[in-house]
Parts: sequence; C-alpha cells; structure tokens
Amino acid sequence: MSNFNTVSEVNTQGFVNEPVDPRLDLFEAIKLLKIEKNAVILAHYYQDSDIQDIADYIGDSLGLAQEAAKTQADIIVFAGVHFMAETAKLLNPTKKVLMPDFRAGCSLSDSCPPDEFRKFREAHPDHVVISYINCSAAIKAQTDIICTSSNAIKVVESVPKDKPILFAPDKNLGAWVAKKTGRDLLLWDGACMVHEIFSLEKITKLKALHPHALFIAHPECEEPVLKLADYIGSTTGLLKFTKENPATTFIVATESGILHQMEKSSPSKTFIPAPPNNNCACNDCPHMKLNTLEKVYLCLKHELPEVQIDPLLFEDALRPLQRMLEISAKP
Ligand code: 13P
Ligand code: SF4
Repeated sequence: MSNFNTVSEVNTQGFVNEPVDPRLDLFEAIKLLKIEKNAVILAHYYQDSDIQDIADYIGDSLGLAQEAAKTQADIIVFAGVHFMAETAKLLNPTKKVLMPDFRAGCSLSDSCPPDEFRKFREAHPDHVVISYINCSAAIKAQTDIICTSSNAIKVVESVPKDKPILFAPDKNLGAWVAKKTGRDLLLWDGACMVHEIFSLEKITKLKALHPHALFIAHPECEEPVLKLADYIGSTTGLLKFTKENPATTFIVATESGILHQMEKSSPSKTFIPAPPNNNCACNDCPHMKLNTLEKVYLCLKHELPEVQIDPLLFEDALRPLQRMLEISAKP
C-alpha cells in the first residue's frame, strides 16, 4: 500500500482519529463539506446503508471506475476498499482521492502478491493476462486487460481464440467465465473471503423453506453455490435482476450491503441474505465495513488519508484499465 501524505495527521490505524461531537448531524456536516470543497462521494454497494444514503454515486466496481474517470469534482471520497480508490486515482490523477479508512483492503487482492504473480506470469509468457479489478496497482501493472464481474465475459471474448489466457486473481470468477465463454483459462489460485464461505447446506434448506424464492449469486461464489443459482451477476446485475424480475422473494448470495439498495428499489419484495457457514445470518465484508459515516466526515474535513500511486507503476497500471474501459464501451 502507498503511504499517507501526512502520516503524522493520521493515526497508525489508518484514519483520522479525532473525537466527533455526538450532537453533530453528520449527514448535514458532510453535505456542507462536500459543497465547500467541491467533493464527491463514491460508494460501493457493500457500504453501510448510511454511507450509501449520503453518496453521490453508488455502484459496482465498473460503475465506480467509470464515474471516477469522468468526475469534475476536486476531491473524490472513495467509500469502498483500497484497490477501488487506487483505480479512481489512476483514472483521474489530478483529483485528490481520499479513503475514510486506509486499512480497508481486500482478501482477494491480498491473495495475489506481486512477486509471486510475476513468477507465475513469466512461466507462461505466451498468455494474455486478464486481471479482475480486485487487485493492487502492482498487479494491474503486470496485466494486459483489467475486467470486473460486469464485463469479464466481454473482456475474455475480446481476446483472439488462438491466444491462451491467464486469469487472476479470483479462481471462482475465472472458472465461471471459462464455463460461459468455453475458453480454457489458466487460473491464479485466489478467492474472496466473503464469497467463499456461503453454506451450501443452509442455502439448500432456505430454498426449501421458500420454494417460490429465486436464488441469485455473485460470480465470486464457489461453483457448487453458483450451480444452484437462478441468476448470476455483478452487484449491479443482481440489483437490476431483482427490480425487473416479477418474483417477490430473493435469496441473495453476496455481501449483505447490497440488500439496502434492493429494498429501496423494490420495497414490496422480500430479500433474504444467503447464510455463511458460521454463526452469522448474513455475510459482511470486514474490509468494506471499516468505513463509517464518522470516518467519511473526518476524512473530508482533514482531506486525509489520501491515496497515492507509486509513480514507477502508474503508466503500466493505467494501461490495462483503459483497455477495459474501451472494451466495455463497445456495443
Ligand atoms: P462488483 O461490485 O463488481 O460486483 O464486485 C463485488 C466485489 O467483491 C467488490 O469488492
Ligand atoms: Fe475483497 Fe471480497 Fe471484500 Fe470485495 S467482498 S472487498 S472481493 S474481500
């Protein structure tokens, strides 16, 4: 991870640690700061509902990258995780990109260390490298084309059929894309801690209990879970499906933050989070949930912590992102 700009002003935990008057209306205070500083808040669907409600734009990884690339604001507060904020900085480098909590990383991104990945890539020099956006700038810099869960199939299909493809870091998304495209992808062995722990047994019981419910899942889930799904898609895809499908009950296998937008968009429908194989009823991403409304307020007030990209990586990490955006924009 890159360093803070002014490390002395941010506690070693990764956020501005200053007492906030409990009587302060954080929604109002954040709105005023946004106007004063010409700032925009971009939030992923996995954020707490309060953060989603104060955000200027809520989206999946692709939507957030597209929004970050075109914003005219001077400051982007990225309420998501580190690789997303890094992507925003790469796509719009003149903007100040802030994170409410700099520790908000990603287990999937961490499952792909740059040095090991370099060895893997060098062992397969003839392969086109496609990396899921959930990776560090150091991995992006070793990649030919980035993809998200929204456009992974399109990105893989953009590569000529005679070219072998190495896909990193998510083996579950990679296996699903391989099945959908009929391409033989060489997979890096990485996975997301949130999507790997859904309980097949509990989902099967839940389906039996709600026979009319549709089961929908994110492609980061493991294959046995995906096999049960009536629909598989990115967070935006899942949300759209619940809006457009006439079914009234959905069992949702992804991080539980998305349920907030599903309930807001379809208030008469019922959304049941798919249970994990532990004692919790739903699946929260511990990284995403490090961000709080208070930390959003403090990061905007102090303009810290700020995301920086290693200048030596910048051009190489940007190129595969731009290729993705070009491919995504094609009809
Ligand atoms: P999408 O928002 O692209 O569906 O990705 C889900 C995810 O795991 C983000 O960390
Ligand atoms: Fe990473 Fe998974 Fe959390 Fe997304 S949900 S940020 S992939 S750990």
